[in-house]
Amino acid sequence: MTETTNTAASACAIADAAHAAATSATAPDIVCAANIAENPYKRDFPLLANHPDLAFLDSAATAQRPKTVLDAQRRFYEEMNANALRGLYRLSVEATEAIDVARNRVARFIGAPKAQDVVMCRNASEALNIVAKAFAPTVLEPGDEVCITIMEHHSNLIPWQQACRAAGAKLVYLYPDENGIITPEEMDAKIGPKTKILSCVHVSNVLGIENPVKELGRRVHEQGGYFVVDGAQSVPHVKVDVTEIGCDFLAFSAHKLFGMGVLWGKDELLNAMPPFLTGGEMIDNVTEQDATWAPVPEKFEAGTQDAAGIYATAAAVAYVESVGIDVIEAREKALVAYCMEELGKLDFVTIIGHPNADMHHGVVSFNVNGIHPHDVASILDMDQVAIRAGHHCAQPLLNYLGVSSATRASLMFYNTPEEIDAFLNSVESI
Ligand code: ALA
Repeated sequence: MTETTNTAASACAIADAAHAAATSATAPDIVCAANIAENPYKRDFPLLANHPDLAFLDSAATAQRPKTVLDAQRRFYEEMNANALRGLYRLSVEATEAIDVARNRVARFIGAPKAQDVVMCRNASEALNIVAKAFAPTVLEPGDEVCITIMEHHSNLIPWQQACRAAGAKLVYLYPDENGIITPEEMDAKIGPKTKILSCVHVSNVLGIENPVKELGRRVHEQGGYFVVDGAQSVPHVKVDVTEIGCDFLAFSAHKLFGMGVLWGKDELLNAMPPFLTGGEMIDNVTEQDATWAPVPEKFEAGTQDAAGIYATAAAVAYVESVGIDVIEAREKALVAYCMEELGKLDFVTIIGHPNADMHHGVVSFNVNGIHPHDVASILDMDQVAIRAGHHCAQPLLNYLGVSSATRASLMFYNTPEEIDAFLNSVESI
């Protein structure tokens, strides 16, 4: 075994130890996790240490990176950097192995049966474009329907508008009730024999609500259709297992999980569909007038990959596993509960979405009556509280809710009650 193969192998061993530690977590750990007064996690994040007075409440937009992830990125460039897949020399082989380590780690994290079905992309938008632009044309016919929810992020909406227009198919929306819940009656009305594809956000980036993906998948499969899940806001916060959900594709953006975009798809579907982007390293054979494709996943990974980013994604997954996804979920629920309870006491604030904090995965959207969300965000910024304001890349949802813009605090397990207090004090000062 070569020296850097050892590096890749040791990354595996570290990740395995983290996984073992995570899976041995017991119920009392979960109870401790919900004790938000103690926070053993914040110190793992250098940016938070460098900004001790900042209350960073915008992790749904992008999460902060733990030191282990930053170290992995640096280690890749210092010890392994070469163009993966292309070189026959040792360093290039080792860079390729580093990517394989990450692919395996991500596959195990999302319950995927085969690492080869994990395609590394730039972000969730690219992952969803692969499905809408390469897979959808192989199954959509004029008159078919694609069903999505009104709470989709634009990344899971615009590609379907385009796919429907190209195929002569109709885009059908599932609308939630006043609490953000998609009812069985709504599913009965919208999912039927014409539904060829149902693509659904797992956790809404505005409402924080978790959609009933297993039920939605069961229904569309019953109709002979395909099921796509956008896990951008769920994979970092709750256990997501593609086998358990029973979806055909899962897209997520690992930058919200500290690290790249990922597309997982069922083996037979990925193998049957054409590539999305074409060019370098995604080919088997090229002649003057034609080309054949490399096997999955390379077929979908045209051009030089961000190998360091992919390698660091393995470290990100290992970190999350070392904390434990159950622990993360319990802490975030406790933080959201505290935030919503206190925010709900302010009679000039309207909370958007379900009244029960338990239904908000890390996200609390709200408006301050009579004040534009952009002004709210600017005032909070002066108090060193970072939140997001605007349409949150979900304009149709905001129109449906009857608001043009909203303010959003998004919480991660590394947040503290003191940061929430700083946020509440700043909102009160408005
Ligand atoms: N989709 C990200 C958000 O909701 C950018 O903020």
